Amino acid sequence: CDLTPQYRPAFHYTPAANWMNDPNGLVFHQGRYHLFYQYHPDGPTWGPMHWGHATSTDLLHWQEHPVALAPDALGMIFSGSAVVDHDNRSGLGAEGVAPLVAMFTHHRPADAQAGVASLEQQSLAVSLDDGRTWVKFEGNPVLPNPGLKDFRDPKLCWLAARQRWLAVVACGDCMRFYSSPDLKSWALESQFTHDLGSDGVWECGDLFPLHDAAGATWWVLLVSVTLGGPNGGSSTLYFIGDFDGHRFTPLDTQIRWLDFGPDNYAGVTWSGVDERALFIGWMSNWLYAASVPTSPWRSAMTMPRELQLRMSEDGPRVASVPARELLSLQGPATLALREVSLPLPLDLDAGLRAAVGVFVLRLEIDALRSFSLSLGSPGGDELLIGYDRDRTAWFIDRRRAGRVDFHPQFAGCHSAPRLATAPQSDLQLYVDATSVELFADDGLTAMTCLFFPREPFASMTLSSTDGLKLGALAVHPLGAGRGS
Ligand code: FRU
Repeated sequence: CDLTPQYRPAFHYTPAANWMNDPNGLVFHQGRYHLFYQYHPDGPTWGPMHWGHATSTDLLHWQEHPVALAPDALGMIFSGSAVVDHDNRSGLGAEGVAPLVAMFTHHRPADAQAGVASLEQQSLAVSLDDGRTWVKFEGNPVLPNPGLKDFRDPKLCWLAARQRWLAVVACGDCMRFYSSPDLKSWALESQFTHDLGSDGVWECGDLFPLHDAAGATWWVLLVSVTLGGPNGGSSTLYFIGDFDGHRFTPLDTQIRWLDFGPDNYAGVTWSGVDERALFIGWMSNWLYAASVPTSPWRSAMTMPRELQLRMSEDGPRVASVPARELLSLQGPATLALREVSLPLPLDLDAGLRAAVGVFVLRLEIDALRSFSLSLGSPGGDELLIGYDRDRTAWFIDRRRAGRVDFHPQFAGCHSAPRLATAPQSDLQLYVDATSVELFADDGLTAMTCLFFPREPFASMTLSSTDGLKLGALAVHPLGAGRGS
């Protein structure tokens, strides 16, 4: 049977048709958020990469635009970023028009017959009409390959103190930092590496400052790795430390995962947004992305999140918090309980009635004990989300949540450590047709997880075997966002 309509998310970005992966060129300009992305306009699986394009004024209602960048003689268009060159330092602007400049990877695929290895180098494209149309720079590539197999995904950031642009470039097992006064001539500053204990390839770096509650600045380096994620496959981790304008020095050698779920990869932050580190990721995993049962599109982006610095028991952490724009989608509560008097199990079906498949559930927990929230369908599909006190871990179990047989590595019970120690906890679950995004302890633990039920979940039950104490529980439907 055709499950396609029920699998289209309501407030997560999906292209109308065909394959999408990484978010690219995230830039805010004149009131619009631009979302470019790795896109194959001719098919539902990865192929010759283009930059697809969508814009939004609120990060939730997206309008899809024509393809922005297409392959050329230098190769496919791989991941990269975009900035507003306010002072026209690149000289690529026009009279009175600050250019939008995109820096991306030109990827020439290997050709075994011609005896040619693949080649990656960094190039520029310019828009003088607010991102509608793009022209590639005639001097491409601006950053030729220095002899590395992997050399891609340039992420730009402006270093005010040095009046220079910085590009973070992923180089296989390290990130390199290049600087430039004009986006056209680049100098190597330094590189940063760390043994991750896997053969994963480093991709899609991002470097940005965050401030703690005391006002101190910490630099965060995001690294997406193709293998070795906490629940298998591709995942994004980060280092926290200092960046002196030339070199990144981590605070310690800890590997911290940005999101412990299996389905958040290659995410980066928006350029041109000063007061918030606004993040979006590709909501899939390279293990099985090509097999997920959606059509005629394949893949969605995560919901927009704000990354914030929090001090935890074991030092600074990057918390993921739903972007405040999400509140505008929220309808009146379909279920709201305070000082919930147990016993469990608690039937929460009423909360789902006006919130078919698209809702946020919030829990305030006074005493955190093992519990499990079950979302079920009449046919017996069941998604379980909860907390395991013995392992001090959150979990999302999609093993029986519907269609799992499209790939052997899709089914799984995924878990994430609790990173807070207080006896109280808070949990937010954003559910949108085929995904759940879990934010626990004010975003200290985040998990993103896809699932494909055979019919919409119609029942919701909360149970606990060891005396969970709830302070509050609320379910709100979320209005449609997508637009397009
Ligand atoms: C990450 C990635 C990037 C690359 C792009 C190709 O998912 O592999 O490193 O630029 O996807 O589509």
